[in-house]
Amino acid sequence: MAGKRIRSIAVMTGGGDCPGLNAVIRAVVKTAINRYGLEVWGVQDGYLGLIENRMERLEYNDVSNILTVGGTILGTSNVANPFRFPSPTRSGAAGQDKGSIQYKDVSDDCVRVLEARGIEALICIGGDGTMATAAQFAQKGLTIMGVPKTIDNDLYGTDVTFGFDTAVTTAAEAIDKVHTTASSHHRVMIVEVMGRYAGWIALHAGVAGGADVILIPEIPYTPAKICEYVLGRSGRGKRFSIIVAAEGAKAKGGQMVVSKRIAGSPDPIRLGGIGPRLADEIAECTGLECRAVILGHVQRGGTPTPYDRILATNFGHTALELLMKGLKNHLVVLKDGRYSSIPLARVAGRTKTVPRNHTLVRAAIAVGTSFGV
Ligand code: F6P
Repeated sequence: MAGKRIRSIAVMTGGGDCPGLNAVIRAVVKTAINRYGLEVWGVQDGYLGLIENRMERLEYNDVSNILTVGGTILGTSNVANPFRFPSPTRSGAAGQDKGSIQYKDVSDDCVRVLEARGIEALICIGGDGTMATAAQFAQKGLTIMGVPKTIDNDLYGTDVTFGFDTAVTTAAEAIDKVHTTASSHHRVMIVEVMGRYAGWIALHAGVAGGADVILIPEIPYTPAKICEYVLGRSGRGKRFSIIVAAEGAKAKGGQMVVSKRIAGSPDPIRLGGIGPRLADEIAECTGLECRAVILGHVQRGGTPTPYDRILATNFGHTALELLMKGLKNHLVVLKDGRYSSIPLARVAGRTKTVPRNHTLVRAAIAVGTSFGV
């Protein structure tokens, strides 16, 4: 594994912001400087900063006092793909409409930008989109180390991603608060949480918040079953219900609720709106008063939980140690309680969803929670 010793690295954050990003940046930069005396560069705004050659040297003091701070001091972007970068045509060259968008592969320019500054390795902190692009860069000869970020916890290969615990904590607190209105007004309250195509946030926050019904993409629901369950509770004198719905939850034979389609974007579908839709449907079939609360980006904000700070610090430190041992093009993971890594090529294009027989699904069912089936 041992090769030429690395002297200069860059670090970047890609995709949506997430609690714990700064904690990883801090761990990477401090380990790089303290333990290895490396030169460290911070790429601004994810892959966009690489494309536009925007990066700055990071010194020890730049990353002090950021452990508990949400967001990313480097900025991020979830729309810039160097292998398919939009370039608007202004002049309307032959065969093109004036003002139309053309896509170009600008990845070679990114490689040259790093080479010109003498940067020998890139630490990519991100989710599945960031890792898929990182894997493409690895094929071009760049030395990459990935760090698994996302509140959705859907990254393949790791048991957990940093940011997830904070999002679950925020969502569970919101569910606790919604209980007050639900019980005082005898309402059905629906809390819509994020998670994209995976139900991890809904499952964990739902169980932690004692939700009566949890709806996740992996277990398509039957609307009549939800109504039956809610009415059954009313019949037993429980005059309110709490439903936690993942944004990607869908009815059996139905589609996910899309709030916006963005043509040409690497993330072409924005999910959202299942909560209000369910509120109307359940009010219609039960005659009960229903309200929906969409938690949205609140789940990505604020200070990371202690668990996420520790996870982020361990991930950042492990990324550096593995890189300096000569490993490259891997994603750092936490698997069965052990920090290790897997090849980026194995991660690209895959996601981790909730198995139907997951321990927590079984526990939730055992305590009487409905999944709408
Ligand atoms: O991947 C994190 C996430 O917050 C998802 O849960 C959500 O679907 C998506 O990002 C929202 O992205 P944006 O901030 O671009 O609307």
